[in-house]
Amino acid sequence: MIDVVLTGRRVRLRPVKPEDQGILTRIFNDPEVAQWWGEPARSVRDAMNPEDSESCFVIEAGTEPMGFIQCSEEDDPMYEHASIDIALRSDWQGKGLGPEAIKTLAEHLITDRRHHRLTIDPAAHNTRAIKAYERVGFKPVGIMRKYERGPDGTWHDGLLLDLLAAELKA
Ligand SMILES: CC(C)(COP(=O)(O)OP(=O)(O)OC[C@H]1O[C@@H](n2cnc3c(N)ncnc32)[C@H](O)[C@@H]1OP(=O)(O)O)[C@@H](O)C(=O)NCCC(=O)NCCS
Repeated sequence: MIDVVLTGRRVRLRPVKPEDQGILTRIFNDPEVAQWWGEPARSVRDAMNPEDSESCFVIEAGTEPMGFIQCSEEDDPMYEHASIDIALRSDWQGKGLGPEAIKTLAEHLITDRRHHRLTIDPAAHNTRAIKAYERVGFKPVGIMRKYERGPDGTWHDGLLLDLLAAELKA
C-alpha cells in the first residue's frame, strides 16, 4: 500500500483516512460518478477498506476534496503492472484536473514504484474518460466485450488502455 502524499501542479493526492467517509459519500453519490462507478455505498466501502495491493487517495484542489483516485499493483514478477481508477465530483470535471491527477499518480508508479506498464479500463462508451486518459499518454489496446454490468443491470463493453513508462506525457 502506498502511504505518501503526491503533489501535482493543481492537485494533491493524499491517502484516504478513516474520517473520509463523508467526503467519499459525496463523491460517489454524485450522479455523474455513480453512472460509471455503480452503487455508491459499495464504492465508499471499497475505498475505505482497500486490499493490500490497493492504494486509495482523496484528490484535493486547494483545500477542496473533490475526487478519488486509486491504484492496484500486481506484484507477480511475470505480470508486474499497476492499474488506476478515478472519479471527480461533477462540478470539478471538464477542467483538466482528472488527467493531472492521473499523471501525478502515474509518475509515482513509474518513477518510485518502478512499474513499466500501467492500465486503465473505462466503459467503451465513456468518451470523456477515454479522452482524458489518452491525454496522459494511455493507448487503446482493445475492446473487452460485455466486460462490466451497468447500473441498469445490463452488460456493456469496456476499453482496455495501457501506457508504457516512456509514453507518459510531460
Ligand atoms: C473521467 C474524468 C476523470 C476526466 O477528468 P476531467 O478532469 O473531467 O477531464 P478533462 O477536463 O481533461 O476532459 C476530458 C475530455 O473530455 C471532454 N469532455 C468534457 N466534458 C465532456 C462530456 N460531458 N462528454 C464528453 N466529453 C467531455 C473534454 O473537452 C476533454 O476533451 P479534450 O481532451 O479533447 O479537451 C472525470 O470527468 C470523471 O471523474 N468523470 C466521472 C467518473 C468517471 O467517468 N470516471 C472514470 C471511470 S473509468
